[in-house]
Amino acid sequence: MKVSNLLLGLLLGCASLAVNAQTIIKFSHVVTTDTPKGKASEFFAKKAAELTNGKVKVEIYPNSSLYKDKEEIEALQMGAVQMLAPSLSKFGPMGLREFEAFDLPFLFDTTAALHKVTQGPVGAGLLAKLEPKGIKGLAFWDNGFKSFTANTPLKTPADFKGKKFRIQSSKVLEEEIRSVGGLPQVLAFSEVYQALQTGVVDGTENTISNIYTQKTHEVQKYLSLTNHGYIGYVVVVNKKFWDALPTDIRTQFEQAMKEATVYGNNIAQDENDQALIDLKKTGRTTVYELTKEERLALKQAMAPVHAKMADRVGKDTLQLISNGLAE
Ligand code: LMR
Repeated sequence: MKVSNLLLGLLLGCASLAVNAQTIIKFSHVVTTDTPKGKASEFFAKKAAELTNGKVKVEIYPNSSLYKDKEEIEALQMGAVQMLAPSLSKFGPMGLREFEAFDLPFLFDTTAALHKVTQGPVGAGLLAKLEPKGIKGLAFWDNGFKSFTANTPLKTPADFKGKKFRIQSSKVLEEEIRSVGGLPQVLAFSEVYQALQTGVVDGTENTISNIYTQKTHEVQKYLSLTNHGYIGYVVVVNKKFWDALPTDIRTQFEQAMKEATVYGNNIAQDENDQALIDLKKTGRTTVYELTKEERLALKQAMAPVHAKMADRVGKDTLQLISNGLAE
């Protein structure tokens, strides 16, 4: 081939690359596609492609297929992935302790109460704290309220005594388990099934959609519906990547995120309700609904965690949360 032909070919290749330039966004997460976060991220990917006319392609890597909990955020900061939706708890170990306030047991009674806080100035303040870490926070996505599982029934605080419970890495969650005499054990989400199966831990806490889609019912005989804490997410992108996006793409991207957030937060409760129905159908786990008195006893046993952790998560954060709740 003549040199001029080679040059022409190269030029044409470059031109077509420029015409077809597509921004690829790697979006990694740790849950299955059949969860509130899994579905919201798929919705987002579709919307982003649609609104940008295919200029943005979001590739989703679910179920810890790329990274486990802790590695995820490091990968985002390094730019190995562009997008994640880690649970609020996952930001505490980065030194952002105010995020751990959301781990306080029995802090929110309803998702609406939680939204009052995350969708107000507290939420905006939390997102702003991410920027010096090279992370841009875009939205809060719901999962739902957590319940406990074990191989023995969990009805009273005494039932937790001496049992090892898997938790996310959070000092507040450690205290929560200790408050009822349990032994907290930090493990990555992807390691929970095996840890329960092999007896490394005796029990765990999570939302019903996470419990069901991780097949926890195969390795746990009892589920107590305690609704004692909340799991939700912050959708985050690598800040450098975000700042470098062309303005039109960023606007379309923000619109896609807005719509995905509405969609995801609308389906979250239903997803958890359906997971409970499906889990009951398996017949492998006995589901126990705590009486009002039993739930109150658990709440009282865990209440000291709030005072103990106030300095850690920040008294001002707690004040802002309680102001938000009172509004
Ligand atoms: C967990 O680690 O238990 C959860 O944060 C997993 C998730 O992302 O819902």
